[in-house]
Amino acid sequence: MDLELVTRHISKLPADDDHPYRTGAWRPQTGEWNADDMEVIGHIPEDLDGVYLRNTENPLLPSMKLYHPFDGDGMVHLMGFRGGKAFYRNRFVHTDGFKAEQQAGEALWAGLAEPPSLTKVGYGWGARGFLKDSSSTDVVVHGGEVLTTFYQCGDLYRLSGTTLETLGKQDWHGQFPSASGISAHPKVDEHTGEMMFFNYGVEAPYMHYGVVDRDNNLVNYCDIPLPGPRLSHDMAITANYSIVNDCPLFWDPEALKVGKYATRFFRDVPTRIGVIPRYGKTADLRWFEFEPTYVLHWLNAYEEGDWVVLDGFFQKNPSPVPPSGGTFYERIFRYLGQEQKEPRLHRWRMNLRTGESTEHDLTDVHTEFGMVNGLHTGRKHRYAYAATRVDGVFLFDGFVKHDTETGRVETVQLPPGVFGSETAMAPRVGSTSEDDGYVITLTSDVNEDKSECLIFDAQDVTAGPVARIRLPERVSSGTHSTWAPGSAIHGWDHVENPIGAVRL
Ligand SMILES: [Fe+2]
Repeated sequence: MDLELVTRHISKLPADDDHPYRTGAWRPQTGEWNADDMEVIGHIPEDLDGVYLRNTENPLLPSMKLYHPFDGDGMVHLMGFRGGKAFYRNRFVHTDGFKAEQQAGEALWAGLAEPPSLTKVGYGWGARGFLKDSSSTDVVVHGGEVLTTFYQCGDLYRLSGTTLETLGKQDWHGQFPSASGISAHPKVDEHTGEMMFFNYGVEAPYMHYGVVDRDNNLVNYCDIPLPGPRLSHDMAITANYSIVNDCPLFWDPEALKVGKYATRFFRDVPTRIGVIPRYGKTADLRWFEFEPTYVLHWLNAYEEGDWVVLDGFFQKNPSPVPPSGGTFYERIFRYLGQEQKEPRLHRWRMNLRTGESTEHDLTDVHTEFGMVNGLHTGRKHRYAYAATRVDGVFLFDGFVKHDTETGRVETVQLPPGVFGSETAMAPRVGSTSEDDGYVITLTSDVNEDKSECLIFDAQDVTAGPVARIRLPERVSSGTHSTWAPGSAIHGWDHVENPIGAVRL
C-alpha cells in the first residue's frame, strides 16, 4: 500500500465526546490522504474509468451549544479508477467558513439547532445568513470540475477532479446569483453538458430556477413564485423539462411572523409539482397537485409521449412524533432518522396535454438516497439503486437494486456495524445496457475501525463485491455521492496515467 498522509488536522472536539453524530460511524476524520496501490481483495475491473465522489460532514471544532450533523465542514472523498487500478484522495472543501473558523480556532457560526443570534458573522436565513456555508451536502461534476453545494443555498465550490484541491468558487462568468446562492442537487445532463439548478429562500418569489451550459454560461434564470417560503431540497429533469416542487412541509407562517423557523407538515395541503421547459420562463410553469407528502430526494424523471414521469421517495409519515425515552441525544438521533418517515419509491405522472395526473407506490420497501445510471438522468430508466435502513442522518445498512418494470428488489445487506454511502452506478466503458456496469459504495466499519470501497457487478449485486479496496483511514458517514466518467474530468485524458500524475 502506498499512502501519504498529507495533513493531520487538529481536532478541538472533546476527547470524551458522546454526541451521536461525532462518534461511531460519524467520528470525524482528521487526516487528508493520498493513497495509491491500496490493498485489494478481488479484482478492480479494467473497464471502470472515472471517479466516485462522496461528500461528508466533518467537524473539527466544538459547536457553540448543540451540534447538528449538517453543521460539519465539507470533506470530499474521491476514488479514481483507470486500467484496473484505483487511487484515493480526501480533502476538506476550503470554504470561506472553514478557513475563517480554522483561523479563529473556534466556531463563528451558530449551527442548525442553535439560536441564530449566536452567529458572530451574518444575519438572516440560510447560508447567505447566519448559517455557515460548509458546502457539505452534495457533489456533482460539471464543466470538468467537481462542484460541492450546501442545501441551504450557498456558493458552488470548485475542486479538481484528480487532486481534490479547492480551486475557488464557480461564478459562471459573473452571472452566479450571489444574493440567493443555489441549493444542493443541481442536475447535470451528461448528454448536453448542461446543469439545471434552483434556489429557495424567505423572500418572494421564494424560488428561482436556472440553466448553465457546458461552458458555464447562465443561459436561463427565472422566478418560480410560491405561496410562501418553502423547503424544497431536490429537483429533477427530463430531456426537455425541469421539475420543481412545493411540498406541504414548511415553516409555520404564524411562527415565522415572530422570527421563528418552526417546520410543520400541513396534512390538508396538496403536494404541488411544477414542470417548466428547460429554457422556459415563469409563465411556462405548470403545476400539478398530488397527495400531501414531503419528498427529500427524487430519483429521476423522463418523458413518455405527453406524460412526464417522475420517480422519487414518498414519505408516508413526513412528520413523525418526537420519540420519548432514552437520553436527549438518543432522542435527537431517532427523531432525525429517515426510517420512521417511511420513505418508499413512488411514481408521479403528469400529462402535459390533458393536465391529468396519477401517482402510485412502486414498492413498500423503505429506501432513500436513490440513483440511476447517470446516462439515464432525464431519460427513461428501469433500475434504481437506493439505500436501505436510512437510520439516523444517515446510516445506510445496505442498498437495493430495484427493477421498476418487474418490481423485483435485490438487497445487499451489510454486516452489523458496517454502514455504506450513497451507492452510485458506474457504467462500464462501452456499456451496452442500462445496468451494464458497477455499483460503488464506501463503507464505515465501526467494528474493525476501517473503511473500504466496495465494487459490485450491477447485473449481479447479490453475488457480493467483485473488489474491496482498503482505504487508509475510516471515513465519517455523510450525505451525497456521485459517479463521473473520466471523460468528464479536466486533465483525465491528457496524461497517460492519471494515477501516477496525481501522486504528490
Ligand atoms: Fe440531499
